[in-house]
Amino acid sequence: MDYKEIVAFYGLDALWAEIGRTLKPERQAHTRGVMETAHRLALKYGADGRKAVIAAMFHDYFRGAGDEELDGLVGRYGLDARLKGRPSLSHGKIAAEHMRERHGFEDAELLDAVRFHTTGRAGMALLEKVIYLADCIEPSRDYEEAGLLRGLEETAGLDAALEAALLGSMAYVREKGEELDGDTVKAYEFLRNGGAALLTNKEIAMRAAETLCAKKGIDVTLIDVKDVSSYADFIVIASGSNERQVGSLADDVEDALGKIGALPRHIEGRAPSGWILMDYGDLLVNVFSRDQRATYNIEQLWSDCETITVEG
Ligand SMILES: [Fe+2]
Ligand SMILES: [Fe+2]
Repeated sequence: MDYKEIVAFYGLDALWAEIGRTLKPERQAHTRGVMETAHRLALKYGADGRKAVIAAMFHDYFRGAGDEELDGLVGRYGLDARLKGRPSLSHGKIAAEHMRERHGFEDAELLDAVRFHTTGRAGMALLEKVIYLADCIEPSRDYEEAGLLRGLEETAGLDAALEAALLGSMAYVREKGEELDGDTVKAYEFLRNGGAALLTNKEIAMRAAETLCAKKGIDVTLIDVKDVSSYADFIVIASGSNERQVGSLADDVEDALGKIGALPRHIEGRAPSGWILMDYGDLLVNVFSRDQRATYNIEQLWSDCETITVEG
């Protein structure tokens, strides 16, 4: 299907008329190509076709905007200040905020596909992969690597082509002498490692505990609570000797688990409060200051459960 048929099929004519009009001609051709390719990949791999088309429509909405406008929007939307002066990284994050604010899109899967279309990230969802790859291989991309990636997608599938695309993107950034984006490195490692889906909850919990040990966390404890808790299978507890270490231990766990594709659902508390709780769904990681650990003594709550000794 070409983009016109796709747009009509999903009843997106009015939205496309509005978005397409604002894009420069060369950006329009690219965006139409991403819409068609993303739609095809979405149907092939089982992602939502309509969301793929909408994400493609918006992904480069701010690509041609001036640095000043983009930097202003980074501030207005409360995005990471490090995005200022880096339009190639900021345009996707800004587009996602714009979609939410101006067009009322709230769907996290849709917004994340736009948000991470230039960097990728560990634990990329299917729709994120589809948009990332479609952006690289849509028909108007005429560099040699795009041809190779198209072939790889056909013969080896989405993940293999995406892994190669991420590797190519890292090589390109290095060649230009620019700093590699941490999310891209993590996305590549995530794909290389086959993603967290291959690991059990216990293995992920062990990885968290081992990381805490390796980073000199104090009294690292892993408790198996799956028989008695309805909200988690494993709880990991460690203390840091000072506020800085509490913060860095939590960061180290987030990095280590990110590499295997496990992302926290949310993180509560900050280092100065003496307790950071990282919620990974079936795994809860608690990093305490010594005082707060003694105060809360959460090990006591689970004293009947099996404690697994972890050594760094
Ligand atoms: Fe882009
Ligand atoms: Fe693009």
